[in-house]
Amino acid sequence: MKIIVGVTGASGVVLAKKLIDELKKTCEVHVILSESAKKVTAIEIKGDSAKSMKGNFNYSEKQMDATVSSSSNLCDAMVVVPCSMKTLSSIAHGFENNLITRCAHIFMRCKKPLVIVPRETPLDQIQIENMLKCSRAGAIILPPVPGFYTNPKSVDDITNFVVGKILDCLEIKNDIYKRWKNTGD
Ligand SMILES: Cc1cc2nc3c(=O)[nH]c(=O)nc-3n(C[C@H](O)[C@H](O)[C@H](O)COP(=O)(O)O)c2cc1C
Repeated sequence: MKIIVGVTGASGVVLAKKLIDELKKTCEVHVILSESAKKVTAIEIKGDSAKSMKGNFNYSEKQMDATVSSSSNLCDAMVVVPCSMKTLSSIAHGFENNLITRCAHIFMRCKKPLVIVPRETPLDQIQIENMLKCSRAGAIILPPVPGFYTNPKSVDDITNFVVGKILDCLEIKNDIYKRWKNTGD
């Protein structure tokens, strides 16, 4: 599978790092970093984002002429993780101002899987409406909210839960998070 991962400057870049590492085990991964994602990575992961978020192919948000910017390049799915409210708004309004929002629209136009992981709290009505717009256009909205029934003990547990849910949406088999089980008495 060929997967595009768009990483924006919302909190939670560790989710992107974990997802990219998992996807690289079985998929061809194309990573697009926004300029703000690089800044947030420096704060949250304390490293060089270009090194810690490495896919098989790597692009900056400004590379509008990258191969993946055309629907003639057949990719199987795209994930925007974490997705800032700014990028969410651009996607919701068809504003293809960078390579991430351009690619997101290719997936919506072509009715292919697009998973958006929006990160902000609390949310205002505009942001909620933007999620609804994207959902109506076919995107999967997957907020990075853990299931507390797994009794998470660490940030890793929470990260794995969210990344496992993203992989489930992509129909990629994984056992990186504890699934709910109740087999009765
Ligand atoms: C440490 C840090 C954390 C941030 N977290 C969020 C966030 O969770 N959600 C959000 O919408 N914006 C967040 N921002 C603001 C975005 O980085 C900013 O809106 C930026 O313009 C987003 O650009 P992009 O979508 O092109 O990456 C954060 C900024 C910093 C510096």
